[in-house]
Formats: sequence, structure tokens, C-alpha cells
Amino acid sequence: MKIISFLLLLLTLLYPKYLDNKSCKECHEIIYNEFESSMHSKSYFSDELHRKVANASDPKKYECAVCHMPMANNLQDLINGKARPDKNNKTHTDGVSCYFCHTIAYVKKAHKFNINTMAKQAQNYKPTLYGRLTDPDHSDKHSSITNPIYAKAVCMGCHSHKLNDHNVTIFRAMKNNQNSLECIKCHMPELPGGAEKMDRRSRGHHASHKFLGIHDKEFRKKGVAIHATREGEKLKITLINKMAHPLIIQPARAKFLKITLTRRGKTIWSNYKKDPSEDSQSYFAYSFQKDGKKVIIPSKATYGSVHNLEAKEEKTLLYSLPKLQKGDKIKISLFVQFAKSDCAKAITLKEKKLLEPQLIKSVTIEAD
Ligand code: HEC
Ligand code: HEC
Ligand code: HEC
Ligand code: HEC
Ligand code: HEC
Repeated sequence: MKIISFLLLLLTLLYPKYLDNKSCKECHEIIYNEFESSMHSKSYFSDELHRKVANASDPKKYECAVCHMPMANNLQDLINGKARPDKNNKTHTDGVSCYFCHTIAYVKKAHKFNINTMAKQAQNYKPTLYGRLTDPDHSDKHSSITNPIYAKAVCMGCHSHKLNDHNVTIFRAMKNNQNSLECIKCHMPELPGGAEKMDRRSRGHHASHKFLGIHDKEFRKKGVAIHATREGEKLKITLINKMAHPLIIQPARAKFLKITLTRRGKTIWSNYKKDPSEDSQSYFAYSFQKDGKKVIIPSKATYGSVHNLEAKEEKTLLYSLPKLQKGDKIKISLFVQFAKSDCAKAITLKEKKLLEPQLIKSVTIEAD
């Protein structure tokens, strides 16, 4: 009995302890609160769309864990189907956790998706966390290392690309030679407030951990510029993608234009009647097939294609309008649908916001 307890004690000492998200709050309160509001803190349990698509694609094996639950202490079992996500396990509910992101040592490029390689932690010592602070202050909970590769690699492990078992591209957001520095510039801008509570180094600012993206009403206005001009009855719309990634990088999403011509408050023309996909030139989304038939869950697809606006790409769309009168208004609105209409055929979603189109931005021109 004594030997067994001794062995157990030895085991717990040999494995470095996982520091959960909450444990960072004591010193990094601002960053912790920002992170909690971000999509990275969402996991299988708190992201309805992800959970339902995951269950529809494989109800037994949770292969998605590699990117969605990367810190899981039984990752292989989740992938093999020997275990299921567990609400009482912090390494499951922490999502893309602080500890995980800050122990990425390098990213190995691979065909299906890239592989995050974690830093080996010295047994029995406090963990070493990577970051970009110059000369970080001493901390009782962890050591800090400024790793020059860190900031270049940190987003590439999960965000670059993903192929399914049939070699069909499910998403591709980054080019082969692209690193993460640009991603950090836009998605982690400097905000006021020290990186830790005491702010002994008087930095006075820190990198935002809100990771704002398509879910934020103000932030999402910055992605695409819309310019509209009219020559006679021809409407010319130029879309400029200002982002370092394609407009569509998530296969459940659709982003599309709704264009209406109104006369004295009545709509007399629009670019589609019922479904935005009727106007194929302004409907941006992935579509997948299996044996020549349309499928919604991408993991099953044997063929896929995407209508997209590539990084920094500029696209001009042309429309013929009816004859215009003075005072006619043309309104051009860019919308996002978090789960495109097709998804409703494969999964039922409780959150209305997921299916109802959400406005990104709009511009209006008036006929004279
Ligand atoms: C290679 C890493 C990777 C793997 C593996 C992966 N995902 Fe993702 N997933 C991401 C990233 C990165 C995002 C965020 C992309 C975005 O928002 O455009 C994401 C976002 C999503 C979203 C959108 C969530 C939302 O709330 O809008 C869904 C749904 C999703 N993934 C489903 C899955 C499913 C189901 C699996 C497993 C079959 C899976 N993913 C496996 C990287 C991955
Ligand atoms: C007991 C206080 C304390 C706790 C708890 C703590 N940290 Fe820190 N951390 C610090 C201090 C102090 C610094 C240095 C800040 C500075 O120099 O401005 C720091 C710096 C960092 C850095 C920057 C390292 C670099 O080289 O750029 C990262 C990343 C970091 N902490 C992550 C975490 C994470 C993740 C957790 C939770 C798992 C955590 N910390 C918990 C005190 C703490
Ligand atoms: C020039 C600023 C800029 C850069 C650089 C940038 N993004 Fe974005 N990104 C945005 C904006 C603005 C949005 C929201 C608008 C949209 O998605 O249409 C966004 C959206 C996203 C989304 C959510 C998209 C969705 O539909 O789910 C993810 C994920 C993302 N970015 C990751 C990255 C990664 C990874 C990089 C580095 C390769 C990066 N971003 C570089 C500005 C940028
Ligand atoms: C998606 C990956 C990711 C996650 C998750 C994440 N961080 Fe960071 N963190 C970064 C990156 C990248 C930087 C460096 C940003 C820079 O230098 O511009 C950073 C910087 C920091 C810093 C240094 C402050 C600064 O201004 O550079 C601290 C402290 C920190 N993170 C703590 C945390 C804590 C605490 C959590 C969880 C509550 C967390 N991080 C979650 C990627 C992440
Ligand atoms: C361990 C994998 C992983 C890493 C590393 C990672 N992400 Fe993510 N990221 C995800 C997943 C998964 C999601 C989607 C979460 C969800 O919706 O449930 C996501 C979502 C996002 C979003 C979407 C926000 C929105 O509104 O939809 C942005 C922006 C983002 N990540 C930026 C970054 C940046 C910048 C980095 C590098 C500093 C990074 N991520 C590193 C996995 C990762």
C-alpha cells in the first residue's frame, strides 16, 4: 500500500500541473476578462454551432478537439472515441486556453492541418510561458521566455487550413509562407492597462485578448470596403477585402450582398427575391458534394468549392437596374449568416442569431 501511494505521489510530481484559465486571473485580470469574452474561451459546451456540427459529423469521435479543445488531458481518447467531452474537466471547458497558446514552441507544417508542438516543461518546476514582452518581470507562478518564433507561429497551428479525410479543403485562411504577425496586428491591438495587475514595469498597455472578429458589430465593419457608382442604369459595385485572409474562412458561414432600389419608400427592384444565393456573384460561401450530390457537413464531402474574395482582393460586380427617377435610393448591404440556411437542414439551432442574417455594413446612393 505504501509503495502504491509513493508511486502515485511520484506520478503527480513528474507531470507539470496544468494552470487553468482562472488561475491567471489573480495577476492578469484585464487580459483574463477580455479572453473570457472571446470566441477562444468558447468550447464544445458553450458554442452551440460548433457542438451541433461536431455531433452531426461524428457522434462518437471528437476529432475536432485538436483545435477546439487542444489542452484536453485525454486528447487521444476523444479523437479515438474512447472518451466524450466532459463538463467537469477544466482541460475540456477551457477551450483554446491561455496555457495552451502560451506554450506553443513551434508549428509543424502538414498536409491535412498544421500541428502545434508544445514546449517540454521541466518536471517539478513552474511552467515556462512564451510571449513577446521585452525583459518580463519576475512571477511566482511561471517563468517567461521571449521566443522569437512564438509570435510568427502562434496562430498558424489552428487557423491556416484544414482538409477532411477525402483530401477536400474544408477551409484555407493562410498562404503557405504567411506567418501570424499580421493576424496579431489586427486581432490583438494594444489597449490601455498593464499586462499584469501591479504593472511594476509601468508598461501601461497590453495586447488585447478579446480577439474581436466577425461576431463584433463594430470590428466587422473594417473587413471589406464597398464602393458603388452608377452610370445610367448600370450599377457598379467594387468590394475590397482589406483583410490578410479570404472573406470566407469558415465553411458554415455565408457573406452576401442585399441590394435594393426603393422609390418613395417602396422596393421596386432587388438582387434576389427569397434567398441571397439566387445572386451567385455576390453570395460568398463554401459548397460541398458527395458522389455528385450536395452535402452540408463538410467532413463527409468528396468534392468542395468556394466562391470567395481572397486576401486583399478587389472584385467588381455589375447590375442592370430599371430606369431611375430622381430621389430613387439604392441601398447596398453586406450581411453575414453565421450558419448558412443549408445548415438548418442538417442541424437544429436554438439560437436565432445563428441563422438570421446579421448586418456587417451598408452604403446608400441616391439618383439625381
Ligand atoms: C485545424 C484546426 C481545426 C480543426 C481540426 C477543427 N476546427 Fe473548427 N474551427 C477552427 C478555427 C480556426 C475556427 C475559427 C474560424 C472562423 O471563425 O472563421 C473554427 C470554427 C469552427 C466553427 C464556427 C464556430 C462559430 O461559432 O461560428 C464550427 C461550426 C467548427 N469550427 C466546426 C468544427 C468541427 C465540427 C470540427 C471537427 C469535425 C472542427 N471544427 C475541427 C479550426 C479547426
Ligand atoms: C502570481 C502572478 C501571476 C500569475 C498567477 C500569472 N502570471 Fe503571467 N506574468 C506575471 C508577471 C509579473 C509577468 C511580467 C509582466 C511584465 O513584465 O509586465 C507575467 C508575464 C506573463 C506573460 C508574458 C511573458 C513574455 O515573455 O512575454 C505571459 C504570456 C503570461 N504571463 C501568461 C500567464 C498565464 C497564461 C497565466 C495563467 C496560466 C499566468 N501568466 C499567471 C505574473 C503572473
Ligand atoms: C487588416 C486587418 C486584419 C488582418 C491582418 C487579419 N484579420 Fe482576421 N478579420 C479582420 C476583420 C475586420 C474581420 C471581421 C470581418 C469579416 O470576417 O468579414 C476578421 C475576421 C476573422 C475571423 C472570423 C471570420 C469568420 O467569418 O468566422 C478569423 C478567424 C480571423 N479573422 C483570423 C485571422 C487570422 C488567423 C489572421 C492572420 C492570417 C487574420 N485574421 C488577419 C481583420 C483582419
Ligand atoms: C490564441 C492564443 C492566445 C491565448 C488563448 C491567450 N494569449 Fe496571451 N498572448 C498571445 C499572443 C500572441 C501575445 C503577444 C501579443 C503581442 O506581443 O502583440 C500574448 C500576450 C500575452 C501577455 C503579455 C502582454 C502583452 O502585452 O504582450 C500576457 C500577460 C498574456 N498574453 C496572458 C494571457 C492570459 C492570462 C490568457 C488567458 C486568460 C491568454 N494570454 C490567452 C496569445 C494568446
Ligand atoms: C489551438 C487552436 C487555436 C489557436 C492557436 C488560435 N486560434 Fe483563433 N480560434 C480557434 C478556434 C477553434 C476558434 C473558434 C472558436 C469557436 O467559435 O468556438 C477561433 C476563433 C478565432 C477568431 C474568431 C472570432 C470571431 O468573431 O468569430 C479570431 C479573430 C481568432 N481566432 C484569432 C486568432 C489569432 C489572432 C490567433 C493567434 C494569435 C489565434 N486565433 C490562435 C483556434 C485557435
